[in-house]
Amino acid sequence: MFNALSQQPVDKIMQLMHMFREDPREDKIDLGVGVYKNAEGVTPVMRAVKAAEKTLWQEQDTKAYVGLAGDPAFADAMASLVLGDAVPRDRVAAVATPGGTGAVRQAFELMLMANPGVRVFVSDPTWPNHIGILNYLGIEIVTYRYFDGETGAVDFAGMMEDLRQLRAGDVVLLHGCCHNPTGANLTLPEWRQVIERLNATGAVPMIDIAYQGFGDGLDADAAPTRLVAEFCPETLIAASCSKNFGVYRERTGILMAVAHEPAPKALAQENLTSLNRMNYSFPPDHGARVVTMILTDDALRADWMAELEDTRLGMLRLREALAGELQKLSGSDRFGFLAQHRGMFSLLGTTPDLVERLRAEHGIYMIGDSRMNIAGLNDRTVPILARAILAVGI
Ligand code: LMR
Repeated sequence: MFNALSQQPVDKIMQLMHMFREDPREDKIDLGVGVYKNAEGVTPVMRAVKAAEKTLWQEQDTKAYVGLAGDPAFADAMASLVLGDAVPRDRVAAVATPGGTGAVRQAFELMLMANPGVRVFVSDPTWPNHIGILNYLGIEIVTYRYFDGETGAVDFAGMMEDLRQLRAGDVVLLHGCCHNPTGANLTLPEWRQVIERLNATGAVPMIDIAYQGFGDGLDADAAPTRLVAEFCPETLIAASCSKNFGVYRERTGILMAVAHEPAPKALAQENLTSLNRMNYSFPPDHGARVVTMILTDDALRADWMAELEDTRLGMLRLREALAGELQKLSGSDRFGFLAQHRGMFSLLGTTPDLVERLRAEHGIYMIGDSRMNIAGLNDRTVPILARAILAVGI
């Protein structure tokens, strides 16, 4: 049987992680996988997470199953974190999932159950695993223009032109904030135009929000998702706690389906719960419980928000420092877009050959499409990266 299996496509983010680990150079710099690192290169357990885990360890007296959809208190806390009061809670179907990727996968499966011929529109570029999972499930992919390599900003005119092809029943995958991999984001007025286009065509939005709190702040980052959920009849939202709670390995995420009518909401809930049962039965609980404890306790929540805000501001400072250093060394403003981008990533907008030279000649690892993880930098490495970028001729 095993001989009948075929080779699987390489995941470029995982491949780069492996190459970095194998590289013996001591001064190598990891700007690859999207994991937050502090100035010492450590991915810390957040203070509030440690405190909640301590209480949990002391107080939890059973590890019995929770529920197929996860703990309703987690769904309540996450619905409130992501959606605020944009939609009433009783309009939101939700299931806990293993990480944001689990939520993305369940969302794609749900749309297939509703419409086996569904087409999913994705930004060009998007997170490679979106494409990987869609291909794996055999879902038709249509790309829409997104990034303008000349300006480093969103090609909004191109995007809107491509979204003219939308038909009723299509799904449009949008990054709620901190676009991965580009770092370039729509403005709120641009989101409003996208919503108009979705509603005019009957297409359904799916929002992947994996970096809430890493861009302009928790509420500002959620504002586009809230707008979409409020003004579109149906919205799918895949949210991750991996980054903003730093609970990567706990696999903590949620899929929400917002419907403004009770009947489709109830159907969505039933189907999502059944999907969980089919795919892994009960979703993981530890990370979800810790997140719930933090979000529902005033002191823990305040401490988490303060640490998250420090993290966000730290990344913003690094962006500004890198843009400033490149400006100083090159004498041009052509890298100014780096300071405008938000979140963990920026797409430098150069060729895979030059990205490979950065790796081979300077030990600097970024994804081949030139996505770099800004959190992989610190005050010492910013000037090193800036010099290397210019040395290879970017
Ligand atoms: C990334 O984009 O690097 C992260 O979301 C990690 C991953 O699973 O790819």
